[in-house]
Amino acid sequence: MKKEFKFGTDLDGKAKEELIRLAYEGKERSYAPYSGFQVGAALLAENGTVYLGCNIENAAYSATNCAERTAFFQAVSEGVKEFRAIAIVGGPKGSKKGELCAPCGVCRQVMMEFCDPETFQIILAVSEEKYQVFTLKELMPLGFGPDNLKEKIRG
Ligand code: THU
Repeated sequence: MKKEFKFGTDLDGKAKEELIRLAYEGKERSYAPYSGFQVGAALLAENGTVYLGCNIENAAYSATNCAERTAFFQAVSEGVKEFRAIAIVGGPKGSKKGELCAPCGVCRQVMMEFCDPETFQIILAVSEEKYQVFTLKELMPLGFGPDNLKEKIRG
């Protein structure tokens, strides 16, 4: 699912709250019958569109897709490859808004592919008002990304 974001891409407090609200909306579609851990993400593109994602589990556990990657892959499949921020929420089914849900290593690597580590904002929220913001570089120091292959492939 995607939404137009009427708050612009300069993320002030109100915009962050709205992005978090959309992450909770994404979480409503979580398919997590095995872990019972439901995750939602709202990915803000530079063009002002927000892509919502949820985790999608599978009986063959390794085929599971995280909420963050669901959002990224939807955006990229639509030709959108520039991003400003992502809000992530998650926790055990039925629990109250509780603990921060940090992105797994694979999702951080996917972020490295499409986002500027210095500026991309990762908003980890326990409620619309209570959250912490990190840059991708903070969560993925010394990460490996497209720049590392620049000379070889693109000359
Ligand atoms: N999960 C996410 O969707 N995102 C994260 O950042 C961490 C983990 C999902 C994968 C799986 O469906 C469930 O949470 C438990 O690992």
